Amino acid sequence: MTAPRILCPQLRERIMSAKEAAALIPSGVNVGMSGFTGAGYPKAVPQALAEHIREHRDRGENYRISVWTGASTAPELDGALAEVDGIEMRLPYQSDPVCRQKINEGRMEYIDIHLSHVAQHAWSGFFGKLDVAVIEVAGVTEDGKLIPSSSIGNNKTWIDQADKVILEVNHGQSSGLEGMHDVYYGTALPPRRKPIQMTAPDDRIGEKYLLCPPEKVIAVVETNAQDRNSRFSDPDENSRRIAQHLLKFFEMEVEDNRLPQNLLPLQSGVGNIANAVLAGLNDGPFENLTAYTEVLQDGMLDMLKSGKLRMASATAFSLSPEANRELARNIDFYRERIILRTQEISNHPEVIRRLGIIAMNGMIEADIYGNVNSTHVMGSRIMNGIGGSGDFARNGYISVFMTPSTAKGGAISTIVPMVSHVDHTEHDVQIVVTEQGLADLRGLAPRQRALKIVENCAHPDFKPKLLDYFERACASGRGMHTPHLLGEALSWHQRFEETGQM
Ligand code: COA
Repeated sequence: MTAPRILCPQLRERIMSAKEAAALIPSGVNVGMSGFTGAGYPKAVPQALAEHIREHRDRGENYRISVWTGASTAPELDGALAEVDGIEMRLPYQSDPVCRQKINEGRMEYIDIHLSHVAQHAWSGFFGKLDVAVIEVAGVTEDGKLIPSSSIGNNKTWIDQADKVILEVNHGQSSGLEGMHDVYYGTALPPRRKPIQMTAPDDRIGEKYLLCPPEKVIAVVETNAQDRNSRFSDPDENSRRIAQHLLKFFEMEVEDNRLPQNLLPLQSGVGNIANAVLAGLNDGPFENLTAYTEVLQDGMLDMLKSGKLRMASATAFSLSPEANRELARNIDFYRERIILRTQEISNHPEVIRRLGIIAMNGMIEADIYGNVNSTHVMGSRIMNGIGGSGDFARNGYISVFMTPSTAKGGAISTIVPMVSHVDHTEHDVQIVVTEQGLADLRGLAPRQRALKIVENCAHPDFKPKLLDYFERACASGRGMHTPHLLGEALSWHQRFEETGQM
């Protein structure tokens, strides 16, 4: 291990192995874990708990827990626990292949909710009592304050609510993270809520540390491991074209005086396309940008380094191993330009609306009227979850959804007559972008929107069929506000399920 990270004598007395700590988590409890998009999740206790669960299972005993987090974690947490069928219920976001499979097989319950809602739902008791919190931190100060790790997510809420807290102190996290965080302790349930006093993305309104009464801490486990994040693929032709359409759109908005020269604070969703758009912005004409977002991906780190981005506010990192090393090497530079907040604040509707965020998120499909499905393949199979996309899309100044116009080698059109699941209604979707082009839906009525989306965004292989559907729906003469042929609206999805081709 490196230099001592647990300076508080009272907490040093609670140091034990991951196996001993995991044994303190009984079956049937609700466990709040740290972790957000593969950053800052506990790395040893969940794996030891999975082993513990396996031993019980082998003896014929049922042993399951419910797992609440900030967002997605990694194979050491979601993967390990799902593998042994140890998760009864999971919330609020996941992207793990084993979890996904268990959820879609009906063997794990999954509550997929807006990330800004999680803390208030937990405080209101909708999920039951939180028994244990397992939180990764970068260190503990002499007076027992916790130095947050590479994500904050719901950690403050879990620590406040849980009866017992298990800490993982990770020597693998940079000690230079200390001072980067802003943990706001002023939230409350209605009617006691006060305005969130932020008017700029770089405002600091909270504490640098997480606060936890030492008597709550039942175990402290030392680890030395890196966050397990995968590489982003290099931008492909489709994502480069999506980025170009979006950049051109921003340039026109600046020309028309609807956006300032340095745009408005950016929110960028997860995934390769979002990362490619950031790469496009890094090569683009805009300077002195800011970000008020949920996750900080490689692209944003590059923009901070190049100076294009002045500062970024988020709740978590989501970096490739190379970008993680860059962060650690130049942590002093980045600490001056990055603020990590609780997800209640990074995704707070009031703040997002006030700052006028440009929200840019990926999607699975959009329909001709602009309703968006971000979560369910063919209407039923969960991919990841809604994450923060709804927090930003509904409350942002501009809400953009992007995707390649086809999926699965061209078998699927991502522009369909009617989405098979709705996450973002037409009212929350202003801009749709594919590699084919961009549809600006602002100020348009439904039939105008349909023509714009099909003309600008649909793939040429599917465009004639979409136009044919739309024209026949209009010709039916029924319901001319948003014309549909109800018997046919989902037939594209059904055809794919039956034949493997839309
Ligand atoms: N039908 C079936 N599968 C589809 C599809 C469609 N219409 N569109 C995409 N997919 C599949 C892709 O084939 C790919 O599957 P694979 O991994 O098996 O190849 C997968 O979905 C991911 O698609 P990709 O094109 O690589 O996009 P992405 O990495 O940008 O992810 C989402 C797209 C929608 C899954 C992702 O943006 C997401 O989870 N969004 C919801 C949460 C969110 O927006 N969070 C950000 C808020 S801060």
